[in-house]
Amino acid sequence: MEDLIKESAQIIVNSKSTIALTGAGISVESGIPDFRSAGGLWSKFDPAEYATIHAFQQDPEKVWNMLVEMEDVVSGAEPNAAHIGMGDLEKMGLLKCIITQNVDNLHQDGGAENVIEYHGNSSSLSCLTCRKKFKSTDKKGDNPPKCDCGQILKPDVIFFGEAIPADSMNRSFHLASSAEALIVAGTSAVVSPANTIPDIAKQNGAKIIEINLERTQLTGRLTDVFLQGSAGETISALVEEVRLIKSA
Ligand code: APR
Repeated sequence: MEDLIKESAQIIVNSKSTIALTGAGISVESGIPDFRSAGGLWSKFDPAEYATIHAFQQDPEKVWNMLVEMEDVVSGAEPNAAHIGMGDLEKMGLLKCIITQNVDNLHQDGGAENVIEYHGNSSSLSCLTCRKKFKSTDKKGDNPPKCDCGQILKPDVIFFGEAIPADSMNRSFHLASSAEALIVAGTSAVVSPANTIPDIAKQNGAKIIEINLERTQLTGRLTDVFLQGSAGETISALVEEVRLIKSA
């Protein structure tokens, strides 16, 4: 693994444009379960019943039973070494942008500023009737949270069946098409269109560094360097090696 860390660090130092794609696995060490690992959120709540925009429109109170459980975990979570390490890479000018599928705001809390939130952010809520917005913290404990007009509020996250914000999609595809290196961390890469970013980057000659506890559909197909391990430990080791190369 040490050689692979050195190889990955050299790729990042040599790259003129490195971006990252992250998923729920990067926040597991902050206490937020991912979706598809054993014991993940989808093992408790069927996404077809709880995570589609149709399910929310049909029975928002039922969907809020899942959302409240997620909210309780996310609101108490702190950024872990993986978020902080990626924030450090950005500060060193070695990570241009983080495209995240997560809605927990932990990349920003961990010091990153250039973050594209592919699936929105759970820190705000919107009324689908009068378009009024609220901070999630202002409605903490309400199940379900309601607008002043009485309607049940929707979190500003993207449900299955909703479009990815056009700006997020366009900016991320543009960055992927000109990246020289892509760090893919903590994602099963099974959800489109986020999972097309590695393909776009690869088509344009980027080196793919994948960080995951286990192999994914990318590993044997697109990944150039597979760092098998926990995101926190691996990214910390990667950043330490980058610092060593930069100081040499
Ligand atoms: N370190 C590194 N990788 C980890 C860790 C860890 N500590 N813990 C879990 N993982 C890996 C798992 O092996 C898995 O490959 O993170 C990945 C998490 O995959 P998913 O649970 O599918 O999460 P994600 O890829 O982010 O899902 C994408 O699906 O349901 C939707 O909107 C939801 O944004 C989510 C999208």
